[in-house]
Amino acid sequence: MSYRENLIAKNLNIDEKGHLTFAGVDTLDLAKEYGTPTYFMDEDRIREMCNIYKSALKDAFGEKGRAIYASKAASFKQMYRIMNEEEMFCDVVSIGEINTAIKAGFPPERLYFHSNNKTDYDIEFALKNNVGYFVIDNTEELIALDRISGELSKKAQAIIRVTPGIDTHTFEAVSTGKVDSKFGFAIETGAAEDITKLALSMKNINLLGFHCHVGSQLFDSDVYIRSAKIMLEFILHIKETFGFCASMLDLGGGYGVKYKNTDPDIDIYENILEVGNFVKSFCSENGIEMPQISFEPGRSIVADAGLTLYTVGNVKKIPGFINYVSCDGGMADNVRYAMYEAPYTVLPAGKMLEDEDLVANVVGRCCESGDIIQPSVLLPQSTKRGDIIAVCTTGAYNYSMASNYNRIPRPAVVMIKNGATYVAVRGETLDDLLNCDI
Ligand SMILES: Cc1ncc(COP(=O)(O)O)c(C=O)c1O
Repeated sequence: MSYRENLIAKNLNIDEKGHLTFAGVDTLDLAKEYGTPTYFMDEDRIREMCNIYKSALKDAFGEKGRAIYASKAASFKQMYRIMNEEEMFCDVVSIGEINTAIKAGFPPERLYFHSNNKTDYDIEFALKNNVGYFVIDNTEELIALDRISGELSKKAQAIIRVTPGIDTHTFEAVSTGKVDSKFGFAIETGAAEDITKLALSMKNINLLGFHCHVGSQLFDSDVYIRSAKIMLEFILHIKETFGFCASMLDLGGGYGVKYKNTDPDIDIYENILEVGNFVKSFCSENGIEMPQISFEPGRSIVADAGLTLYTVGNVKKIPGFINYVSCDGGMADNVRYAMYEAPYTVLPAGKMLEDEDLVANVVGRCCESGDIIQPSVLLPQSTKRGDIIAVCTTGAYNYSMASNYNRIPRPAVVMIKNGATYVAVRGETLDDLLNCDI
């Protein structure tokens, strides 16, 4: 195998100098100009993915299709500006995300507020800031939302998060549609029906419909049809039981992306059209008006629009054992391997034509043995201090999960648009780290 076979996204290439290019730009030039570690994001790719979703949803459901970006994947002001320009809706899970979106000029009416534990303060903040939709995750929250809406003389628009009981067989940590989940109300146990009844009885709640999210990194093309079927059967049951016709059905996010060249390809556009055919025929066969259908992708919008560059600090060769290549980032900027052994493709940015003759764990600089970016990576034997290493597909759940562990400043996010670069989030300074200290 060669590094060329590991160019897993179409924005990756190798130039005549043997350098990795990203979004058409030499990654060594990027590292030189912005330093490392730095997150780079391909804005054109982000917009392309928004358009794939928007056109798929329009072609599948007409005016009733809605694309919502799950902003937990990558949340910062410029991302909400892009989403606003692309006329996307956004899913937010905290008042931090709500505030960031609003400060970026994103219309709050187009926000869906998730989270399995919204405090009274969160609910009040969201209501006062005119957040469009509340995704109800538990009974206590619904009762609080009704009460606080009443106190503020508002009526909250709500959809109920339902767990359809699907086990998607992805990592345990990203599988959320099973009955045994901290999220939402199970259909199977009757909890989803009970909460619907309660919501319909409330003065200050305007129940619009239902939501589900069965998991992440899904490639199985029929998962969404299976969950749509369960959700539509539930909607039908609720109509027969309470006379309530749901006008919204949110099928969640979860479409997979390629982290390794062994990951399958998935045609999201085609897949959504298939879901559309199923939903339309189910609704007409069962005499229900088709609800508005939304998808709520995060990872597949931004993941392969991202790439992180690091500089190698040392190469530790241990005869008879695995080698270690340490770089100037790690679990503080990409916690995903440490958290759930997430796979990544790691490339020698300046040595893409050399042999793959060194097997090494690419590790970070945090004081944890588990601070591994990726184990058993193939790199050139010549790898040495000062070399640039690229980790691909880091656009989702990297910057947004970054921490200051070991008091390491978070890296900048640099956007690439039409071959030109600009800073979307500046890198933290040592002084930034002291901002909240008394
Ligand atoms: C409720 C909900 N919606 C959407 C998403 C986005 O999923 P993905 O990034 O896999 O598309 C998540 C991810 O955790 C989620 O919990």
